[in-house]
Amino acid sequence: MGEPLPDDLRDAGERLSAAELAASQLQRLQATLRHAYANVELYRRKFDAAGVRPEDCKRLADLARFPFTTKADLRDTYPYGMFAVPMDQVRRVHASSGTTGRPTVVGYTEDDLSMWADVVARSIRAAGGRPGHKVHISYGYGLFTGGLGAHYGAERAGCTVIPASGGMTSRQVQLILDFKPEIIMVTPSYMLTLLDEFEKQGIDPRDTSLRIGIFGAEPWTEQMRREIEERADIHAVDIYGLSEVIGPGVACECVESKDGLHIWEDQFYPEIVDPATGEVLAPGDRGELLFTSLTKQALPVIRYRTRDLTRLLPGTARAPFRRMEKVTGRSDDMIILRGVNVFPSQLEEIVLRTEGVAPHFQIELSRRGRMDHLTLRAEARPGAAAADPAARIAAAAAITRAVKEGVGVSVEVRIEDPDTLARSEGKLQNVKDLRGQ
Ligand code: DLL
Repeated sequence: MGEPLPDDLRDAGERLSAAELAASQLQRLQATLRHAYANVELYRRKFDAAGVRPEDCKRLADLARFPFTTKADLRDTYPYGMFAVPMDQVRRVHASSGTTGRPTVVGYTEDDLSMWADVVARSIRAAGGRPGHKVHISYGYGLFTGGLGAHYGAERAGCTVIPASGGMTSRQVQLILDFKPEIIMVTPSYMLTLLDEFEKQGIDPRDTSLRIGIFGAEPWTEQMRREIEERADIHAVDIYGLSEVIGPGVACECVESKDGLHIWEDQFYPEIVDPATGEVLAPGDRGELLFTSLTKQALPVIRYRTRDLTRLLPGTARAPFRRMEKVTGRSDDMIILRGVNVFPSQLEEIVLRTEGVAPHFQIELSRRGRMDHLTLRAEARPGAAAADPAARIAAAAAITRAVKEGVGVSVEVRIEDPDTLARSEGKLQNVKDLRGQ
C-alpha cells in the first residue's frame, strides 16, 4: 500500500491518454444525447423547449447548452417514464427511499450492470483491494444501490464477497472475527457503530483482519477519517456515487494519495455549476456537481443536478481523470440558522476534535419565540471524562466556543452519557428539524 497501482491492474479506461479520453467522451456524449432524445419523451420535450438538438453538441463545452435533469423529473415520471429502453431489456431496478414523496426509480440493462461492476471494481483496486481479498459488505442490500453495487463490483475485482448487509451489529462483529475479511465496505457512521460494538465486546478493533475500509453514501470529514483509521488501524478510503447516475463507484479515492476522489469520467462526465444560477463555473470553483452518463442505456442522465457541493481538481494518481474534493455537504443539508449557513459536517469536524467527546452527535433544530435554536447533543467518551462533570462542562464549552468562532453561530451543546444517542445502521440521520411543529 502506498505504491502506485501497477499498469497491469489498470483497466482499458484507466490507460487512456488525455486526448483519447476527450475524444471518447465527446463521441459517447453525442451518442447519449441522441439516445435520450430519441427514446425519452421528457428529454425530447426539454431539449425542444431549450431549442437544442443532439446534433448541436459538437464539442464537450456545448453540453452547457442542454437543459438540466433533476430528481423532480424522475419523480414526475415515476416509476419508469425516463427509461430509454423497452422494459424487457431492464434487468434490475433500484430506488431511493424517498423521504419526501415518491421514491425515484432507476433501471439497468445487462450492459449497464456490467459497466457498474467495472467501475466499482476499479474503485476497489484504487482503494488497495486485490484479487483474493475478502470483502465484508455492510451496505444495505435491497432497493438501495449500496449493497448490490458493492457486491458485484467486488466479485468483478476478483474478491471473495461476504454479503452481510446492514444491521444486526453484534453478528457483524462475529462475522468479521470469524471470516477474516481484509476489506469492509460500509457507511462511515455505521463503521463507528461497529467499532463501538467491538470495544463493547472487549475486542480491540486494531487486532482484526481488516486493512481497508471503503466508506461512502454520506458525507464524512477528515476528522472522521482520522478517528476510524486510528481506532481500527486501517486505511479509510472515500467512495462516492448516487443512484440516478449509477450507484456507488462514480468516483473513489486511491489509497496511495487520499487526495480527493478520482472521477471515472470515461463513464460519468462532471460539471460544476453555481447552484443558484445554474451557470457553469471555472475549473477549481466550488459549486454544485452535475453528471452526464456517457454509456448508460436504461437510464441515461443528462446534466443531473446532484445537489452535492464540491469542486473539480486536476488529475493526479489517475490522470487524465480529474478529481473532486471530498463532498462535505449537500445544498439541501444546509441549515440556515439565524441567517448563517451551517453544514452538519462543520459541526462533525468540531465534535470529533474535542477531547473527551465520542464521535456521535445529533442536531436538533427548534424555535424559541421567533428565533431558531440549534441544540447539539454529543456524548461523553466512555472512561474518566464521562464520570467527571467538570470535564463534561469543559467539553461542552469548548464545542460552543469552536462553533461560535468557526461557524459564526451560537448553539446549545449538551454532553450526554456514553451510549445514549441513537446509532447509525446505514446512512446517518442525525438532524431533527422540529421548527415546523
Ligand atoms: O448513496 C450510493 C452509494 C452507496 C455511494 C454506497 C457510496 C457508497 P443514493 O442513496 O442515491 O446513492 O445517495 C446519493 O449520497 O448525492 C450524496 O449526497 C451522498 N453520498 C454518496 N456518497 C458520498 C460520499 C448512494 N462519499 C447521495 N461523500 C449523494 C459524501 C456521499 N456524500
